[in-house]
Parts: sequence; C-alpha cells; structure tokens
Amino acid sequence: MTNQLPLGLYVHYPWCKRKCPYCDFNSHPINESLITDKSYLNVLLQDFQENLTYIDNRKFLSVYFGGGTPSLLAPNLMALLLKEISPYVTSDTEISMEANPGTVDKDRLKAYKDIGINRISLGVQSFNDKSLKLLGRIHDGKTALNACNAIVEAGFDNFNLDIMHGLPLQHNQEALEDLNKAIDTGCNHLSWYELTIEEDTYFGAHPPKLPNEDELSLIEESGFELLAKANFERYEVSGYTKNKRCLHNQNYWYFGDYLGIGAGAHSKIKLKDITYRKANLEDPKAYMQSVENNSVKFFKVDKDSLPFEFMLNRLRIFDKVKIDEFTNTTALDFSVVEDKLHKACDKGLLVIENDSFYLTKLGRWMLNDILEMFL
Ligand SMILES: C[S@@+](CC[C@H](N)C(=O)[O-])C[C@H]1O[C@@H](n2cnc3c(N)ncnc32)[C@H](O)[C@@H]1O
Ligand code: SF4
Repeated sequence: MTNQLPLGLYVHYPWCKRKCPYCDFNSHPINESLITDKSYLNVLLQDFQENLTYIDNRKFLSVYFGGGTPSLLAPNLMALLLKEISPYVTSDTEISMEANPGTVDKDRLKAYKDIGINRISLGVQSFNDKSLKLLGRIHDGKTALNACNAIVEAGFDNFNLDIMHGLPLQHNQEALEDLNKAIDTGCNHLSWYELTIEEDTYFGAHPPKLPNEDELSLIEESGFELLAKANFERYEVSGYTKNKRCLHNQNYWYFGDYLGIGAGAHSKIKLKDITYRKANLEDPKAYMQSVENNSVKFFKVDKDSLPFEFMLNRLRIFDKVKIDEFTNTTALDFSVVEDKLHKACDKGLLVIENDSFYLTKLGRWMLNDILEMFL
C-alpha cells in the first residue's frame, strides 16, 4: 500500500465588498447583514464535521482561507472555525488567509495573527491609482501600501502579494513600478498574474483596451528579469518566492490531498490506495442547503483518469518529478505512463533520468501537447 499523502484544508468564503469586473471566482457582493451573520460559518463547521472520516486522523500541512474576501469574516468568528480544526493542526501548519487591502488595518491583522493565521495573501493587483480604478478595485494605491505595512507591523513575516500585469492602458514602466513597490514591502512571495479576460465577467462582455502583444512580451521579459535580480525564484507559472513557497498551493501541484469546505470547494483524498473526490455546489445558498441535507458526497475517481490528473498538476511546477511521486500519489505502477513519457522524450519535450523526469524548455512551451498524450 502506498503512503499517506500530505493533507491541506481549503475554506471558501464567497463574499466580497464588490465584484471586480475581471473576476470569475466564486465570489458575490456581500449584503451588509451577512457580515455579522453566523449562518455561513455554522454551515462551514457542519461541512467540516461531516467529512472527518476522510481526514483519517491526519494533521494538516496547510489551511487556506480563500475567496471571495475571507478578511471580511471577523477574527472572532474565524476563531470558532480554527478552534474546531485545532486537533488537526500542528505548530508547523501553514495557515493562510487571503485579504483585500480595503478590508484590513493593523489591529484587525493583529487579531488574525492572535487566533493562529500565520500567512497573509494580499490582493494588491497594482499600486497605481489609474490601474486600480480601471480594475474596479475598492482601494487605491496608498491604501494598498498601508495594508502591506500593516501586515509587517502586525508581525507577519510570511506574506504574499497578488500583482496583475497587462492591465488596461498599462505600459512597461508602470508594470515594473508595481513590481518594485511590491518587492520593497518585504514580502517573501509574489503571485504575478497576467490579466486574462474571462468570458462570464463584466470585462468579458465589455472588453477593455489591453496592451498589444509586443508590449505584453516586453512587460513579461522585463518582469522576469526584475524578479530574478531581486532574488525571487520562479517556481511555478505565476509563483515567485524568496525561499518560502506556498505550502498549500504546492500541495495541489504535487498532487497531494485536500479537503475543501465552503461553497464550490473541491476535495481530493486518497484512502487505502483509492482516490476520492468531492465538489461542493457553487451557489452559496444551494451549498448551505446541501450541507444541511448532507447531499453532496465523495465519489471514487476512475483510475484511468489519474495519470492525466497527476501530470496536469505536477508538470505545472518546475521541480524534477520523482518516479515514486507518481506511484505514491496515484497508487498506479509507473509502467502505466512509461511509454508515453519516452515518446515525449523522443520529441525533445522531456528528459528522463534514473529515478526522475523533467520538462525541457521546449516541453514547457508545449505542455499542452504532453498533457494530451495522457488523456
Ligand atoms: C480570489 S482572489 C484573492 C484576493 C482577494 N479576493 C482580492 O481580490 O483582493 C485571487 C487572485 O487572482 C487574481 N485574479 C483574479 N482574476 C484574475 C484574472 N481575470 N486574471 C488574472 N488574475 C486574476 C488576482 O490577483 C486575485 O488577487
Ligand atoms: S475582491 Fe477578489 S475575489 Fe472578490 S471580486 Fe475582486 S478579485 Fe474577485
């Protein structure tokens, strides 16, 4: 039997002060009465309780409050959930919370730290007022900078900033200014995303004027260079760090296990060499009802789909893949994928060594072609 995998807990909080025009996450504008309402929290507690058998007495590698804007959930309410999960948490568990700069100050951040949050991921997007306005954000550049300082003053030494580039009317210089300001905050992690226009969003229906291809390439190239000079290692498509990777996200990419609670949250758990999945309902009301009825259940994943799922996640991160990672996470024999990997190797997309394999530069460019081989 293969080993137990590291386990993460994801908690989805689906509300935001306002919906941003580019965002297709499962997030909805909050109705003021919900801010102090405990009903969603109570459902989260129940969702957690209903799935305890899948935790199987393991401890969490990471806990991640994502959204939406979980920093709208008051620290004293979040503490109730943290208390519930405390038997499964150790002093090494990474406990992250996403925050929006328009919702936090030093005292509130300190309160989150006091209840056990040890990592903040702040959605800055940009420090430039013009860009923030065009992105429909609830904060300006000064508020974003103040929130970064407040994170440090509250005592967090482990924090990420989300920065987007390729913004409407943005020039290379402005994109680099955003990165420089982000680096100067002292953060040890940056998520640097290119703005994508998603179909079911306001921008999808009313596309803004974006920088042209040449400008986008220039932003990307000079951004890579700037981040490397500042000693930020790129370890994933959009993830950069100074020696402190996000354990929670890394566990997804390493095809580890995770329990997801909250609206739309997904779970993947391997028990006795069988992989199970669950996908909670997206709509918060329908989700809450489904937890009351205990109507959404884990199901067994078909073994044939595991090689593709493994590659889809694991090849996203640039470290060499150990062969026993495949056998341990999927409980399948390596021979299931060996021929296909050799074919990719013959095409110059992959290098296979004794106990590991990794993508070549060409393979990184043609990742989709490799993934198709496992479909
Ligand atoms: C769920 S949000 C978490 C942060 C928080 N909700 C906020 O916006 O302040 C995760 C991150 O995904 C990025 N993101 C969201 N929509 C995007 C898009 N259309 N293109 C690129 N990045 C996007 C943003 O950087 C955002 O901060
Ligand atoms: S605050 Fe974050 S999650 Fe909410 S709508 Fe904006 S980008 Fe999406």
